[in-house]
Formats: sequence, structure tokens, C-alpha cells
Amino acid sequence: MRKKIVAGNWKMNKNLEQTLTLLAELSAKLPDTKAEVMVAPTSINLLSAVRNLENSTIEVIAQNMHFAESGAYTGEISADMLLSVGIQTAIIGHSERRAYFGESDEILAQKVKAALTNNIRVMFCFGEELEDRKAGNHFAIVESQLKNALFSLDASAWSNIVLAYEPVWAIGTGETASPDQAQEMHAFIRKTIAEAYDSAIADQVSILYGGSVKPANAEEIFSKPDVDGGLIGGASLKADDFVDIIKAI
Ligand code: PGA
Repeated sequence: MRKKIVAGNWKMNKNLEQTLTLLAELSAKLPDTKAEVMVAPTSINLLSAVRNLENSTIEVIAQNMHFAESGAYTGEISADMLLSVGIQTAIIGHSERRAYFGESDEILAQKVKAALTNNIRVMFCFGEELEDRKAGNHFAIVESQLKNALFSLDASAWSNIVLAYEPVWAIGTGETASPDQAQEMHAFIRKTIAEAYDSAIADQVSILYGGSVKPANAEEIFSKPDVDGGLIGGASLKADDFVDIIKAI
């Protein structure tokens, strides 16, 4: 059975006090669920969040990490640094990292490799831009993003990978892919992995949808057979909304 996952990407929001307040609200309201629940606060608050959630089932994850083990990379955070504060999962390849910080498929391939080598589970994000979809190139773009960053990995690596398909045109825009568009792409992703590896790996990997998921649309998106949960931005910043999304799964 594939894991169901609901993850909140807080991006560059919430200072320390606000982080602890939101975590307290979430902990108090967390519904009983079989899904894995994760939150990704900004890196400076990871340790505080880990300590705050010590007795919780909520996992704290990182929004990013660097590929180098250590060295002259001002402002960056290594896998070892994440591990040392209790982080075991990192988001890699978010479209905002690609668009604003120049993260190419090649850099992302290095990051994925560094994470897995250090036993950090990867939540790999990818997805097409609006022009790609309008031009009918969305399947080809998604396939190349997967291929360039992931398909040189050994088959065994896939048990430590979660995928998050996030069409760029749906992130933070209020516009969501329709549940059918999400299902169509998720099925395509699974087929592409089955062709590159095998169907056992494709069937086992959790594929999350991300892009303007909110309480009002979560249930319908999550009801699709190839959608195994969501990566939630804006709606994860309010405890009630995030909790309602968790309930929807
Ligand atoms: P959004 O962000 O839910 O605010 O659209 C999703 C994401 O960027 O992961």
C-alpha cells in the first residue's frame, strides 16, 4: 500500500514565535489519520520545531538542502546539518527554487543524490509552466524533469523518494489543476516510472499533488486513484485549513 501524505510547505513565512504558535494549534487539532503529516518551516526554525514536536506524529521536514557535504557555500545547509537537528526528509526541486535560485535539473540531480547518500528521504517537486501546458508540452516537460533528476538512481533508491507534482501555474495562484488533470498527470508519471524501472516501483511511490489545494477542493483531488496526498503551501499556514485538508484524506 502506498503511503498517504499531507505536507505543509511554509516557505518564507512564520518567525520563531509564530512557528511555535502554529505548531501548538496543529498539535491540538490534529485529527486521527493514517496519513503521514509533515510540516516544512523555514530552516532557522527547524530545530525548535523538532523539539516542539518530540512526542508528536507530525514530521518536521526541510524545504531545501545543498548537495555538497560541507565547505565554502555561504548561506547553504548540508545534509549532515539537517540530520544533526533531527530532520530526515527534505523537499528538493520546488519550482520557486528552480525559478528564483537557478536550480537546474543537473543541480537537482546532485541534491537528490546527496540527500539519499546521507539517508535523507527526498520529496521531489516538479511540474510544468503555463506555457508548456498551453503548448501541449506538459507531459514531455514532466518526463524530462523526472528523467534528468531521478532516472539514473538505482531502483533501491525509490523507497526513499516521494514525488510532488506541482504545475507551476497552480502554485499560489488560487488556480488548481482539476482533479481529472491531476489524475491524468499522476497516471502518466506512474507509467513513466514503470517504463524506466518497473511497475512495482511505480505502484509503490507516493505521488502528491500541489498547487492551491484548500479545504474546499482537497477531498475531490485526493479521491483520485493516483493522487496519494498533497503538498500544501498557503493553506498550511492556517491550522484550521491544514487540519481540514488532513481530514479530507
Ligand atoms: P500553494 O503552494 O498551495 O500555496 O499553491 C503549493 C506549493 O508551493 O508547494
